[in-house]
Amino acid sequence: MLKLAATHNRSMTYLTVYTDGDTPETLLETDDAAEITAALKAIDVRLRTWEVVDGLATGASQEEILAAYRDEVSRVIAEEGYTLVDVAQLHPDDSTDWPERAAAARRKFLAEHTHDDDEVRFFVGGSGIFYLHVDGKVHAVLCEPGDLLSVPKNTTHWFDMGTSPDFTAIRFFHDDDGWVGDFTGDPIAERIPDFDAIVARRASLAAGGRDGR
Ligand SMILES: [Fe+2]
Repeated sequence: MLKLAATHNRSMTYLTVYTDGDTPETLLETDDAAEITAALKAIDVRLRTWEVVDGLATGASQEEILAAYRDEVSRVIAEEGYTLVDVAQLHPDDSTDWPERAAAARRKFLAEHTHDDDEVRFFVGGSGIFYLHVDGKVHAVLCEPGDLLSVPKNTTHWFDMGTSPDFTAIRFFHDDDGWVGDFTGDPIAERIPDFDAIVARRASLAAGGRDGR
């Protein structure tokens, strides 16, 4: 097991909560782990953190990644009954078709949808934002290495990997029916700040200090 010096690249999760009206307003933005966990718990979404395993190269194989997190993965499977686990990853490269592949991958789950299975993702590397549309609000959860997010089945949500997707995630499934999205047709994703905007916002806050929120 590669469990040495585990947490060197752990960064904080970041949550922004918006109203879901025609002109969304920001209700909350925070990188406080306890605050984020509590806010998500209130909408039945679970966020846990695992120690990040050191020594996994970007683009490591599925076998290497699952072996590195064998104990944690086994525990989740045993406790929550998942029967399938795999690794999804996307990293920028120099190929001429990268922009097209990146855009196509991003588009796939960028509109609001639901699934009839939970959506459970552990971020091994990189980042992505899950937008959870529940009770008139949108919780935008920027997931980063070490984050295990569990979104219950039938939760309306979308996912943005940004214009330059770069992430590695372990996925857990209850069955092998394939991962399909049931799209709601609600264009709400188009009026909520996207991955690039939220990442830029967070970077400017980090550079300039908090604005009182
Ligand atoms: Fe989804």
